[in-house]
Amino acid sequence: MASPLPPTPVGVRVRVPAKINLALKVGPRRADGYHPLATVYHAVALYDEVLALWAEPDEFEVAVIGEGAGVVPLDDTNLAVRAARLLARTHGPYDSLGASLSLRKAIPVAAGLAGGSADGAGALLACASLWDLDVSPEALRALAAELGSDVPFALLGGTAVGSGRGEEVVPALARGTYHWVLGFGHGGLSTPAVYRRFDELTPQPVNPEVPDELMNALRTGDPRALGAALVNDLQPAALDLRPQLRQVLEAGLEYGAVGALISGSGPTAAFLAASEPAAIDLAVALSADGLCREVRRASGPVTGARLVI
Ligand code: C5P
Repeated sequence: MASPLPPTPVGVRVRVPAKINLALKVGPRRADGYHPLATVYHAVALYDEVLALWAEPDEFEVAVIGEGAGVVPLDDTNLAVRAARLLARTHGPYDSLGASLSLRKAIPVAAGLAGGSADGAGALLACASLWDLDVSPEALRALAAELGSDVPFALLGGTAVGSGRGEEVVPALARGTYHWVLGFGHGGLSTPAVYRRFDELTPQPVNPEVPDELMNALRTGDPRALGAALVNDLQPAALDLRPQLRQVLEAGLEYGAVGALISGSGPTAAFLAASEPAAIDLAVALSADGLCREVRRASGPVTGARLVI
């Protein structure tokens, strides 16, 4: 019989996509401070990578390179570190586990694209594999929900309906590939601050529901129908806090986008193009006019957190 393989490989690499919210309907603030959501998440091909390596027992550290590296915390508040610790505590022989994490970021920080959530989801998957833990997908999803509202979707990917505070996700029936152009803002927006502004601007929010026209558009795969159905209840709050974003949205529509909205709590502007060539033209035009810090194309949907072999 062949000798058994070492218990774990030297390191495990996971890549995790950014999300945009095609619909984000927000209800009245709950007693726990969160807001009930009816949202449609959509994972796009803009990825953070998480590399996990063995470290001494109870040693957890993180290094960050790439987009926004200078503003990502490196202490125990880092979502990837929190994820690794949570996994070790709940599913491992805690005293004998440790991890050295490296994040290669392409998803901007505090941008409404769930970059931190992506890193948390990536660390869960990478460490579960590194430590060879017997943890079911359901158990991993439960830990993800504990870490943050958007983390379960980062594991799942694709296009999915989110409810609860966003952590309950169910895959949606969606056809086709969509071509997006993302305009990154100068600086981030704080998600709690945007929700607070939403509370101030919306005295009587109604119970949130995903619009039928959006679900119908996804079933047809028609970008124009989807573009017309995009909706974000947090957008007025984000525009109020960052008025120049209005100009960005208008510019994208002028350059041919078939739909435009602020992603999540912002400040990223997401533009839907009618086709891939239209997305290239749109990205060139938006880059040239200099309103955004950076412009990137990303198609969707793509799968959620996956090991990179
Ligand atoms: O769940 P997560 O930690 O990502 O949420 C960050 C913050 O965003 C929360 O502390 C809360 O202020 C706000 N939030 C909310 N309602 C949600 C999700 C997030 O008010 N459904």
